[in-house]
Amino acid sequence: MKNGTLYGVGVGPGDPELMTIKAIKILSSVNIIAYPAPEEGASFAREIVSSNLKKDYTEIPIRMPLNANNFPIDEIYEQATYQITTYLEQGIDVAILCEGDSFFYGSFLYLYQRLAEKFEVVVIPGVSSPMACAAALGQPLAARNDALIILPATLPEESLIERMNLADSVVIIKVGRHISKAIAALEKSGLAKNAHYVERATTSNQRIFDIFKAPSPAAYFSIIIAHRRGSAWR
Ligand SMILES: C[S@@+](CC[C@H](N)C(=O)[O-])C[C@H]1O[C@@H](n2cnc3c(N)ncnc32)[C@H](O)[C@@H]1O
Repeated sequence: MKNGTLYGVGVGPGDPELMTIKAIKILSSVNIIAYPAPEEGASFAREIVSSNLKKDYTEIPIRMPLNANNFPIDEIYEQATYQITTYLEQGIDVAILCEGDSFFYGSFLYLYQRLAEKFEVVVIPGVSSPMACAAALGQPLAARNDALIILPATLPEESLIERMNLADSVVIIKVGRHISKAIAALEKSGLAKNAHYVERATTSNQRIFDIFKAPSPAAYFSIIIAHRRGSAWR
């Protein structure tokens, strides 16, 4: 029997209208959807697709803490891999939902790593959070010869500064409880003057602040955007 196909479906940053036509098509053809979810409560990726779920699905919520220190949680991914493998080996297709883009820092990568050698995998790209946050802010990310760098705020402050010093434009993801360190690094690399905080971009809970007015700790779904010239068009 032919194995099923695994789809890594990027579902965009929050607004369901930012899902691709291809993502919607895949979701209307598969019967099994898996998605990352917090230990308790709703999954953001599952919420994004909810208005496009037209029939009953077998759902595999992959519950884990959102605390970056605990990543990767091997047993949780092993268990999800086992469940997904069982379907794929019966010839049943499975879609894994990934908030934003599937190949950009998503938990999908931990499953891709475990399943890609054995099964056919099709990756559907999605609108990623840096693009969504720049659009929400109304500020281009990079222009002309700008070097754009994307940094996880979980890095040590010295690494942040060292890499920021090489960049014209900076996007900081995974801000959360690392916001004070991220702001200190921006100040030390001369990027704090025009830096903004964007939370839950494209959702009805979207909020935007100058970084010095941003909440601390920051939301898990938040990004800082800064440009050395103030704006990419200058
Ligand atoms: C594990 S990464 C996943 C990124 C995702 N795959 C993407 O393409 O955007 C999670 C981080 O993405 C950022 N993020 C994702 N969605 C966001 C949104 N709607 N608004 C602001 N930041 C977001 C936050 O920095 C969050 O900590």
